[in-house]
Amino acid sequence: MKREELIKKYLDFFKSKKHKEIQNESLIPENDPTTLFISAGMHPLLPYLLGQSHPLGKKLCNVQKCIRTGDIEEVGDETHHTFLEMLGNWSLGDYWKKQAIEMSFEFLTKILKIQKEKIKITCFKGDKDAPKDIESEKIWKSLGINKIKFLPKSENWWGSVSKTGPCGPDTEIFVNGFEIWNNVFMQYNKTIKGKFEPLKQKNVDTGMGVERTIAVLNNLDDDYLTDMFLPIIKQIEKLSGKKYKGNEKPMRIIADHIKASVFILAEGITPSNTEQGYVLRRLIRRAIRYGKELEIQKKKDITTPITKEIIKIYSDYPELKKNQTFIIDELNKEEEKFEKTLEKGLNKFSKFAKDKKISGKEAFLLYQSYGFPLEMIEEESKKIKVIFNKKDFEKEREKHQELSRTASTGRFKSGLADDSEATTKLHTAAHLLLSSLRKVLKDKNIIQKGSNITAERLRLDFSFPRKLTEQELKEVESIVNKQIKKSCEVCKEEMSLQEAKNKGAVAIFDKKYGKKVSVYSIENFSKEICAGPHVKNTCELGNFKIIKQESSSAGIRRIKAILK
Ligand code: ALA
Repeated sequence: MKREELIKKYLDFFKSKKHKEIQNESLIPENDPTTLFISAGMHPLLPYLLGQSHPLGKKLCNVQKCIRTGDIEEVGDETHHTFLEMLGNWSLGDYWKKQAIEMSFEFLTKILKIQKEKIKITCFKGDKDAPKDIESEKIWKSLGINKIKFLPKSENWWGSVSKTGPCGPDTEIFVNGFEIWNNVFMQYNKTIKGKFEPLKQKNVDTGMGVERTIAVLNNLDDDYLTDMFLPIIKQIEKLSGKKYKGNEKPMRIIADHIKASVFILAEGITPSNTEQGYVLRRLIRRAIRYGKELEIQKKKDITTPITKEIIKIYSDYPELKKNQTFIIDELNKEEEKFEKTLEKGLNKFSKFAKDKKISGKEAFLLYQSYGFPLEMIEEESKKIKVIFNKKDFEKEREKHQELSRTASTGRFKSGLADDSEATTKLHTAAHLLLSSLRKVLKDKNIIQKGSNITAERLRLDFSFPRKLTEQELKEVESIVNKQIKKSCEVCKEEMSLQEAKNKGAVAIFDKKYGKKVSVYSIENFSKEICAGPHVKNTCELGNFKIIKQESSSAGIRRIKAILK
C-alpha cells in the first residue's frame, strides 16, 4: 500500500464514523513558546483537550506533519526519523475506551486487512497515580485479541508535549513487532507539582505513524525502503555511486535530515544559531557531513536533486512546491557556509590536537562555533589518534544548556534571541521601524504586537488593518535609513513606569512592566520602554531593508527586515 492510499483510507474511515477532518497545521507551534516544533497530532489541539470547545465538534481526525528533534542523534537505524506524518483521531469528551479501541480494531482488520493474529497489545500496568487499565484489556479480549502485556508508566503512558498538561494511560498496537498506533486515554492533567488531577473531560488521542505503518503493510522492516524514502535513497545512490546496502546509516541520515530541512524551510525558517533555525542548521550540516562520508564530491550539488525528489513524494503539500527555489537556495547557502567553517574548524582542531587531546571545552567550541557534529569530533579524534572524552563534552554542553535556558527566560520577555552584536543592531532597527511605521501610516496608535529577533533578521508584528503598499514600504525603509545616516545617539534612561508613559514612551501591548523601567530614545524620533540591549549610535546599523510583509493574524501585520 502507498502513503496516499493509507492516509485516504484512514480519513475516510473516521469521517464515516462522524469525525470532522481538521487542518494539517504548520510545523511551528502557535502561541506555544515551550516547544520548537509540532511533534504530535494532538499538539495543536491542546486548548480543546483542556476543555475549550472546538468549532468542528467533539470528534476530529487528520494527518499532521511532525518534527521530533529528540531523535536526531538516533536517526540512522531502520525506524527513527526526524520528520514524520501522524494520522490521528480524537474524542474531545465524547467517546471513550470501548468505542476508540473498537474503531482501531475495525480499521486495522477490516480496512487494512491485518490478520488479528498478528496484533499484539500493551496496556498500562497501574501505579500510585492511576489504576491498572483492565478496562482496555477487557475490550481487546472481547475482540479476540489475547496477546496483551501490561507495562509501567515509562512505556504505556503518554504525556503532553511539555512536562505538564493533559496525559493518561495508553494502549499501544504492535503489528509484526512494530508499534504502529497508540490510543491515549487522556483523563489527567499533570500539574507543575507533578500531581495528576482529573481533566474536565475524558479525551481520546490517537497517533498512527504513516511511515511505520506503510513499512509494516508492505512487509518491510526498514522505513527507508518505503515510498516515502526510497526515491531519495535512490538519488543518494546515484550521487555517491554507492549502494544503499552497506551504506545504510549515512544514506538514511542524509535522506531524513534533508527531508526534515525541506519541510522546516517551507515554513520560512532559515538556518541560524537559535531556536528552529538552529535545529535546521544542525540537520543540514549533519547531512553534509554524512555526504562527505559517502565521498560525494564537494562541488556536486547534492541538495537540488534530493529536494526535488522530496517535493515529488509530498506533492500534496503545496508549500513545498511554492517555496522550491527558496528551499534550494537556502540549502546551498548553508552548505557553502559550512564548507567555510569546516575548513577553519579543522584548522582549529589541529591546533587543539597538538597536546594529543581534545578537552571538553575545546570540543564544545568546535561544536558550537564551527558547527561540528559530535560524531565528527569523535571520528576526527580517532583518525589522528588524540584523546577525546565524550563525557567532558557532555558536561560542557550541559553547562551551556543551563546558560541558554536562563537566557531564554529573558528571551521570551523581550523577544530577543541572543545578545550578539547582530541582534543588538536589529533590536535598535526594530525601534526605528516602529516609529517609521507610525509616521508613514499616520497612525500614532500602531503598537508592537510581538517581536522576534535572530542574528539574521528582525520580525515585528504590529497592529494595522491592511496590507502596506509598495510605496509605503519604500517610504518606511527610507525613513529608517535616513535615521541611520543621521548618526543618532541612542540614549537610555531609567524612570518610573508612570513617568515613562507621561513622556510618551511606547509600551508593548499586554506586557507587564515593573515599577522602574528603562526607556530608550533615539533623538526625537523614537522613545520606547525596553529592556535592551541597543547600539550606542544608529550609524552602527548599516543599510536597513524590508524583506517581507505578511499578515500575522486578523488586524496584525508582520514585517521581516534585515541589516546589510
Ligand atoms: N499523542 C500520541 C502519540 O504521539 C498519540 O503517540
